[in-house]
Amino acid sequence: MVLFHLGKTQAQVAAEPPLPEDGEAPIVDEAAAAAPTPTIAVPSVFDPEPLWPVTQETGHRFGELKMLIANRLLAEVGPVEEYRRTAEAAAKLLPRFRALLRESEASLERAEEEDLWQAVLDEVLGFGPIEPLLRDDDVSEVMVNGPRLVHAERHGRLCETDITFADEEHAMRVAWRILKPLGRRVENKWPLADARLPDGSRVNVIVPPCALNGPTITIRKFFKRRLTMDDLIAFGSTTREMVEFLRACVLARLNVVVAGGTGSGKTTLLNVLSGFIPASERIVTVEDSAELQLSQRHVVRLEARPADPDGSGRVAIRDLVVNALRMRPDRIVVGECRSGETLDMLQAMNTGHDGSLTTLHANTARDAISRMVTMTMMSGMELPVRTIKEQIAAAIDLIVVQSRLRDGSRKITSVTEVQGMESDAVVLQDVFVYKERGLTADGKVIGEMMPTGMRPKFMERLEAKGITLPPSVFGAGAS
Ligand SMILES: Nc1ncnc2c1ncn2[C@@H]1O[C@H](COP(=O)(O)OP(=O)(O)O)[C@@H](O)[C@H]1O
Ligand SMILES: [Mg+2]
Repeated sequence: MVLFHLGKTQAQVAAEPPLPEDGEAPIVDEAAAAAPTPTIAVPSVFDPEPLWPVTQETGHRFGELKMLIANRLLAEVGPVEEYRRTAEAAAKLLPRFRALLRESEASLERAEEEDLWQAVLDEVLGFGPIEPLLRDDDVSEVMVNGPRLVHAERHGRLCETDITFADEEHAMRVAWRILKPLGRRVENKWPLADARLPDGSRVNVIVPPCALNGPTITIRKFFKRRLTMDDLIAFGSTTREMVEFLRACVLARLNVVVAGGTGSGKTTLLNVLSGFIPASERIVTVEDSAELQLSQRHVVRLEARPADPDGSGRVAIRDLVVNALRMRPDRIVVGECRSGETLDMLQAMNTGHDGSLTTLHANTARDAISRMVTMTMMSGMELPVRTIKEQIAAAIDLIVVQSRLRDGSRKITSVTEVQGMESDAVVLQDVFVYKERGLTADGKVIGEMMPTGMRPKFMERLEAKGITLPPSVFGAGAS
């Protein structure tokens, strides 16, 4: 068993005092910092499996050493949520790191020492073991399912990482660290929080007793650069012809809904579609958390605000949609309809605010209609279902479904016209549908977007705007 000569056991330091309230001085465990440093055995909790097996050679020693040194540094400097990972902050810690490493009597290669230093910095000044994933530009999402299992999405593919936390308290500490500077917290009474990091990334934290796996953290990283139309074409998510068709629809002021599952690329597509709005028009965007990045100059961006812990001060999407209508918008872009705001959105579309765009959570065009009915009911207005469906049929022109296929790739999988009502049903007509033809040897889906042969009824509206598309777009023999 490896011996380390550091003052505290893992259990002692992990039982860090709770983060102080704003304004309170950081709690520094002076007694512990000044205490003599007895020789202690590594707690047996480390024995059963490696903590953070970075390399074969270092095995789990690396993870133990990291935690021991980081915990000592944390105890010495106190809670560090105000620390940024700056060169100065790192420079201040380096001598103490070197001293503690000497004390531990661990013999490390030069490169290992550098890795250890970086990992310790991640612990002391960052979000611990997930910090490397947050720095990695190829990673778009980070998912911590309790202390032992961390998944990441890299290049659009979900994969399990070999990253683990020392224990539940360690994961909990990172969760607190993420939320504290945002003025949010999780506790027994209310163990969940949704927030946006300063860099624009979205974070959700849910902890026991509601999260049975232990502290669960989901981070959707903010992309400095949103994917563009050309990216989507290059990735095979859509074709240039399809993009031209959608551009024509936006120019002709059709009301468009992008439907899809979570993470299927709805917001990305909405961003691309919104990019087609002419620069001469006034755009008001309404979002739960600002994700859209429009390049037009005349854009007013509105963002909802969650309630304060006492329940007051909430500004809902719905309030913002109503407000947006009073701002003389040419176009309203609602990031996502999740609830009663759907009614306001439909009414806006039906009262002269053509060309509005939104997304919602649904896997097919038909599902999107049912979702809209349900969400309209959430508005609290007691409308008969038939009336709601009539509103939907009158308001929405086009539903574009974005999907994540089984190989992880994201694609537009159907483009459907909303044609109107027939007896009690909303009439939908697919214009393009993605046809899967099989899999490549390495598991990639092969397929393409096929016209159904139906020419949409709204073509007249496009033509009235002087927008013409070759009939071949809709397939040979389109009527
Ligand atoms: N067509 C695409 N191909 C590859 N990655 C994509 C595509 N569309 C979106 N993404 C990526 O997928 C993630 C989720 O996209 P987003 O548009 O936020 O999804 P949603 O709004 O449906 O939750 C982001 O990291 C985004 O960059
Ligand atoms: Mg989205």
